[in-house]
Amino acid sequence: MKKLKIKKAVFPVAGMGTRFLPATKANPKEMLPVVDKPLIQYAVEEAIAAGITELIFVTSNSKRAIEDHFDSNYELEVKLETQQKYALLQTVRDILPANIRCSYVRQHDPLGLGHAIACAQHIVGEEAFVVLLADDLIDSGSANCLQEMITIYQQTSASVVAVQAVQAADVAKYGIVAVAEGWQGCGEIFDIVEKPEPASAPSKLAAVGRYLLTPGIFSSLAQVSAGKGGEIQLTDAIALLLAQEKVYGYQFPGIRYDCGNKMGYLKATIAYALKHPEIADQMKEYLSQFSTENEIIT
Ligand code: UTP
Repeated sequence: MKKLKIKKAVFPVAGMGTRFLPATKANPKEMLPVVDKPLIQYAVEEAIAAGITELIFVTSNSKRAIEDHFDSNYELEVKLETQQKYALLQTVRDILPANIRCSYVRQHDPLGLGHAIACAQHIVGEEAFVVLLADDLIDSGSANCLQEMITIYQQTSASVVAVQAVQAADVAKYGIVAVAEGWQGCGEIFDIVEKPEPASAPSKLAAVGRYLLTPGIFSSLAQVSAGKGGEIQLTDAIALLLAQEKVYGYQFPGIRYDCGNKMGYLKATIAYALKHPEIADQMKEYLSQFSTENEIIT
């Protein structure tokens, strides 16, 4: 059987990032660096490693830096070459491999994640695609969360939602999925509910920032009206899609850093610094001094 290919990834980056104000007043949240790479570059690298060749960014008027980041910067390259800083020059040139195409589409009003994805419909067309939320930084070690989701799609032809177990107190922050008893980390989901009260939540499995969606999602999105927070919720559209098609959940291994909030972002920064070849040792040393000097070891 011919394997179903997934070529396109949508990156909704038009949110307001209010939890990071004032840093995000004029700069996109997705351009916040974790050590030396912006969040959006980690997501793009994950997509490219999973075989994606077309990147579609859903942006807004304060997100021009993202377009610039993935464009070439002739003056900078000439300067680095003149100064013989060849390693840095290569780093800059390697941001995007030559075979990768980018498109940008504007979401004029931040009407929600579901609305942002609908803005990309005319570029996605009638094919399955993936969605990556760059503020969810996923470290799956040598595995690639998205690659695994594509494999599940190739076996099932169904949409796939990445899920993670969360604390009972946190279910009201996420879309929560219902799964069959004896869930083993991958299987059909039967419902998905946006930000349920802990008492009525169907499970503690939360949808996080990776989705593989069949084009059927667009007709579901068109039927969804504003839900929680007055936004067009992707979760509500997936719940509608479930009436037409199977949808799978995939509980990925590894760690997800919610870099949309300050604490998650700082945890990611420390974790990635501790494995960065240039600064890992210094960071280890610094952290050990810091904890003794300030007596914050718990
Ligand atoms: P968030 O829920 O994190 O919202 O969006 P936000 O606006 O970025 O941040 P806060 O809550 O104000 O701090 C999840 C993802 O969906 C995108 C965001 O850019 C982020 O990647 N998004 C959200 C859009 O593209 N458009 C929207 O209207 C809302």
